[in-house]
Amino acid sequence: MTVAKPLPHDAARLHVTGQARYVDDIPTPANTLHLAFGLATIAAGRITGIDLAPVRAAPGVVAVLEAADLPHANDVSPSAHDEPLLSGNTIHYHGQPVFLVVARSHLTARRAARLAEIRYQERDAILSIEDALAADSRFEDGPRIWTKGDVDEALDDAPHIVEGSLEMGGQEHFYLEGQAALALPQEGGDMVVHSSTQHPTEIQHKVADALGLPMHGVRVETRRMGGGFGGKESQGNALAVACAVAANMTGQPCKMRYDRDDDMVITGKRHDFRIEYRAGFDDHGRLSGVEFVQYARCGWAQDLSLPVADRAMLHADNAYHLPHARIESHRLRTNTASATAFRGFGGPQGMLGIERVMDHVAHTLGRDPLEVRRINYYTPRKGAPAPAPAPAPAADGPARSDAGDTDLASRGAAGSVPPAPAPVQPDEAQTTPYGQPVTDFILHELTDRLTASCDYAARRAAVADWNDANPVLKKGIALTPVKFGISFTLTHLNQAGALVHVYQDGSVQMNHGGTEMGQGLFQKVAQVAAARFGIDTGAVRITATDTGKVPNTSATAASSGSDLNGMAVQAACDTIRDRMAAHLAKVHQDDPSDVRFADGLVHVGGNRIPFAEAAQICYQARISLSATGYYRTPKLQWDRIRGLGRPFFYFAYGAACSEVVVDTLTGEYRILRTDILHDCGASLNPAIDRGQIEGGFVQGAGWLTTEELVWDSEGRLRTHAPSTYKIPACSDRPPVFNVALWDGRNTEDTVYRSKAVGEPPFMLGISVLMALSDAVAACGIAYPALDAPATPERVLRAIRRMQNDD
Ligand code: MTE
Ligand code: MOS
Repeated sequence: MTVAKPLPHDAARLHVTGQARYVDDIPTPANTLHLAFGLATIAAGRITGIDLAPVRAAPGVVAVLEAADLPHANDVSPSAHDEPLLSGNTIHYHGQPVFLVVARSHLTARRAARLAEIRYQERDAILSIEDALAADSRFEDGPRIWTKGDVDEALDDAPHIVEGSLEMGGQEHFYLEGQAALALPQEGGDMVVHSSTQHPTEIQHKVADALGLPMHGVRVETRRMGGGFGGKESQGNALAVACAVAANMTGQPCKMRYDRDDDMVITGKRHDFRIEYRAGFDDHGRLSGVEFVQYARCGWAQDLSLPVADRAMLHADNAYHLPHARIESHRLRTNTASATAFRGFGGPQGMLGIERVMDHVAHTLGRDPLEVRRINYYTPRKGAPAPAPAPAPAADGPARSDAGDTDLASRGAAGSVPPAPAPVQPDEAQTTPYGQPVTDFILHELTDRLTASCDYAARRAAVADWNDANPVLKKGIALTPVKFGISFTLTHLNQAGALVHVYQDGSVQMNHGGTEMGQGLFQKVAQVAAARFGIDTGAVRITATDTGKVPNTSATAASSGSDLNGMAVQAACDTIRDRMAAHLAKVHQDDPSDVRFADGLVHVGGNRIPFAEAAQICYQARISLSATGYYRTPKLQWDRIRGLGRPFFYFAYGAACSEVVVDTLTGEYRILRTDILHDCGASLNPAIDRGQIEGGFVQGAGWLTTEELVWDSEGRLRTHAPSTYKIPACSDRPPVFNVALWDGRNTEDTVYRSKAVGEPPFMLGISVLMALSDAVAACGIAYPALDAPATPERVLRAIRRMQNDD
C-alpha cells in the first residue's frame, strides 16, 4: 500500500534542480508593476509632515499611495482590525509601512521609497516587558489566569520550594523564500492573487475587503512556499492586499516581494517571553504545586497573540502532572513588530518554563534531572515498577541546594537518601491543568527506549568523569520530553475540505485546502488518495491550493495539515470509489462491498479491471467521477476564558537526548550528539516525517542557542540580515544524530492512525539548552539559570557568574 511508504517529497526533484516555481518565478505579463513600502523610521509617535514629491518624481514610479488613497478597508489584521496596511499619521513601530510605491521595477520601487521626507513628533516608545508593565500596555484588560486545585496550600505545605525567572528570546522565521504576492486583475473587477501564504482563504478575505468585493470576486492560488514556519499565516496579508489594490487602481498586474532586510524588519517573529516560576516539591523532586507568570511581548498589533499566549499556558505542564497549578499570562503591547505564529505557536515558550523548573529542582536536590522528570510524568503505565531508588546525591549536593536564586523552605533532606517514593497509580487518567484527561501517555515506554538506545546512564557518568578531569572544556548532557497538543485551540478551525476528480483515463486530480511549505503535506495526502483507489502515487496529480476549488479553509497550521486534509481527501476519494464500486458490481453481478481497489486494478466478480479502464466504463455509464470531501475533528470542546475542556484531539510525544561541550574560556560550544525518539503514530511517510523531526529539532536548537534578535533603545531591529542573525547551518547539526520513529499507532481515529508532526519536534531542541545548562553547572555550585538564546556570550557570562560565586 502507498500509505506508510518512505517516498520522496513530490517536488524534491524540482526543488533541487531549481525548477520548483515560487511566486517570484511565475512568468508575468510585460506590463507588470512592482511594489515597495516606505517605512517609518521611529518606533512611536506621529507624522507631522510628509513630502512624497521626490518619490513621485523618481524615474519609473507610476503611483504612490497613502492610507487616505485606499478605496476600502485599510486593514490587514487577521484578528482585531487593529493593523492598517498603511499607517496614517500614527506610528506604532520602527519599520511600519507608511506609504506604497508602485513602479516599473522592483529596484526602482525600493529606491524611490527611500526618497520620502517625513517629519515626526516622537513619543517614548514602549519596547521592553518592563516598559509595557509600567505603562499597563497590554491586549485584553488584564492577565489571563487559569488555576487547578489550591496552589497556595500546596506551596505552603511543600518541603522544598524553588523560584526563579527565565528569559527567552524571539525568533525570526528565516523562510528561504521571502514574503511575496502577485495580483492579476480580471474582467469585471475580479482579482486573482498568487500568494506565498499558509492561509489562502485569509488572503481572499482581506483582498475582498480591501477591494470592496464579495469573496467570490477574489481567487487565491498558492502552489508552494519556500518555508512558512508560521510566518506566513498572517504576515502575507499586507503584500497581497497592496498588490490587489494597486492592480485594481492601475489595471495592471502588480507584484511585491520583500527584500530580506525589509522582511525581517517589517514582519512579526516568535514572541519573546519572560517566565517567573515558583514550585513546591518533595524530597524526590515530585511537584505538588507550581505557579507560572508568563509575560509575552506581543508587539504593536494583536495579530495571533492571544491564541499564541493561550498555547503557552496550555503547555505549561509539558509531560508532567501538576496536582496544583496557577498559570498567569500577560499579553503585552509594545512598539515593536507584531509578534506572530512560529512553529509551536507559544507551546515552546510555555514548555521551557516547566523544563527549567525540572532542571532547577534536580539541581537543588542534587539529583539526575531525568529522574526528576520521570517521577513527575503523567500516570505511569499500569503495573509499572516504582522509579529506581535515587542514587546518593553528588558530592556537592547539599552545597548546590544553597545556590543561586533557590529559595529552599527546607534543606534538610537534600543530603540524605530518602526512601523510594510510592508509585502513583490513579484509577482515572490524570488531567492537565486545563482539565483534559491524558489518556494516551506513552512517554514512560518511549523514555525507557531512548535511554537504552542512547546509553544515557553510562554517558552521564562519562560526562561527570570528563568534567572532573578537564578544567577548560566542560560537557553536559540532558534528556527532555515533549508532549504537544494537536488541534487548533479555536475549535471551529478544525475543519477541512477536498475536491477530487478522476478523469476518464484514470488519472486523478487532488485538491484540498492545505498548503505546501516544504513539510511534505501534498505528498502524504497524495499517498492517502492513491491508497484509497489502489493506484500508484504517480497517477495522482497534486495541484496548487486554490480558493476557487476548496472554499473556507483554515490556515495550514497547528501541525494539523495532514490530519484534516488527509481525512477530507479520503472522504472525497471514498465517495467516488463507492460510486464506481456500485456500478461495476452491478455490471459484474457482485456485491459492491466485495469490490476491491488494489495494485492498480479493480477486483470485481472475479475480474481484474485496470483502474483506467474502470474509470472509462464508469464515465460511459454516466457515473460522476468528481466529489468533494469534508472533515471536522471530533470530541473537541474548549472554554478558553475559564481554561477548561478538551482543546486537543490527542497529544504527540517525543524525547531527545543531547550532549554538548563548552569552552569555558570563550563560551563557545558544540552539540556532540543528539538521539531522538519521536512519535508520529503510524507514519503516513516515515521519510518525510523524519525530515520534519530533524528540521524541527535543529530549528528549536537554533532558537535557544545562536538566533538572537537585538532591538536598540530606539526600537530598531539591529539584527536584520544573516550577517548578524545566526540561524543554524548544516555544519551546526549534531555530528552524531540518531533519529528514530516510535512505532505505535494513534489511539484516536486519525487518518491511517498517524499523528501530526510539523511542530512537536521543534521542542526537542530544549534538550540542547538543558545540556548547556548542565555543562555550565559543572563550573561551580550555583544553579546556572541560563537564559535563552544561550549565545556564547550568554554562556560565558553564566560561567563567570558561577566562578565568581565560588
Ligand atoms: N516544514 C517545512 N519544511 N517548512 C515549513 O514552513 N512549517 C512548520 C511545520 N514544518 C514548516 C515545516 C509549521 S509552523 C507547521 S504548523 C506545520 O509544518 C504545518 O504543516 P502540517 O500541518 O502539514 O504539518
Ligand atoms: Mo505553524 S506556527 O502552526 O504555522
